[in-house]
Amino acid sequence: MEKIWFNGKLVPRNEARLDFLTPALHYGVAAFEGIRCYRTSRGPAIFRLREHLERLLHSARVIGWRELPFGIEELTEACKATVRASGLAECYIRPLIWLAEGGWNLSVDAGKPHVAIAVWEWKGYLGPSALEQGVRANVSSFTRHHPNATMTKAKISGNYPNSVLAKTESLRLGFDEAIMLDAQGLVAECTGENIFLVRRGRLLTPPDGAILEGITRDSIFELAADLGTEVVQQPISRDQLYLADEVFVCGTAAEVIGLREIDFRVIGSGRGAPVTRALQDAYHAAVRGEHPRSAAWLTPIAA
Ligand SMILES: Cc1ncc(COP(=O)(O)O)c(C=O)c1O
Repeated sequence: MEKIWFNGKLVPRNEARLDFLTPALHYGVAAFEGIRCYRTSRGPAIFRLREHLERLLHSARVIGWRELPFGIEELTEACKATVRASGLAECYIRPLIWLAEGGWNLSVDAGKPHVAIAVWEWKGYLGPSALEQGVRANVSSFTRHHPNATMTKAKISGNYPNSVLAKTESLRLGFDEAIMLDAQGLVAECTGENIFLVRRGRLLTPPDGAILEGITRDSIFELAADLGTEVVQQPISRDQLYLADEVFVCGTAAEVIGLREIDFRVIGSGRGAPVTRALQDAYHAAVRGEHPRSAAWLTPIAA
């Protein structure tokens, strides 16, 4: 039976139940993470676990919780224990902190944060051919959140209907992913990924201001530096994407995936995407324990 780590204990999934009258369900007051565990020669290992859990605690701070029932060390052990209990060699890990036991007055101080962690198998987020062929995206008709409306630095559940609106629209239009512009009309990010473009050998990506600071994005900064590729954070317009030599998106679920077409315009020369390919290879080696950076980035789950 699948196990969920639920407020401090591993319980069978059918015991990890919520009251319908849980404010988080009604108002989206919850913070979550998306983390991956990979098969390595040293057994299953979690990629950049500490950075993900730090971001989870930062998201909780942005929501306004002043005290949480569990700290980073307990959550680290809890993630490892949940993966061990699953018996899976590779999986996706989903910790969630949500507002329970009150909060109908719309104040986090009126309720309590509860915490749970689930794991599941999750492969090929953008489809089976995405890695080899890249995917097709459009610029969404939906605007990314203004950072002063809902906080873009935090993975808050209530932010995600914005992504759901955009992604549903794109899929219904026949695309694979949506590129979202910020309130100023500049490129922000995708529904669950950050975005990079390659122009004349340099990597460009939107600045931190109005986006989620992706942990995959941060890994790309390091891996690009290793490859001697300059990375510049700068405002990017929609037409800069059209004129790029390569465009790719990156995130924990999607990993590193090229965009072969944006708004019906083919990206690049059609002669492959060498920078994207090199970063994909480096990333896949890093997550599987086969890269000089792996030792610092992987946490084996063994007890
Ligand atoms: C909106 C958004 N941007 C970017 C990312 C990529 O972040 P990460 O690389 O930490 O998974 C995600 C995924 O968590 C996301 O939801």
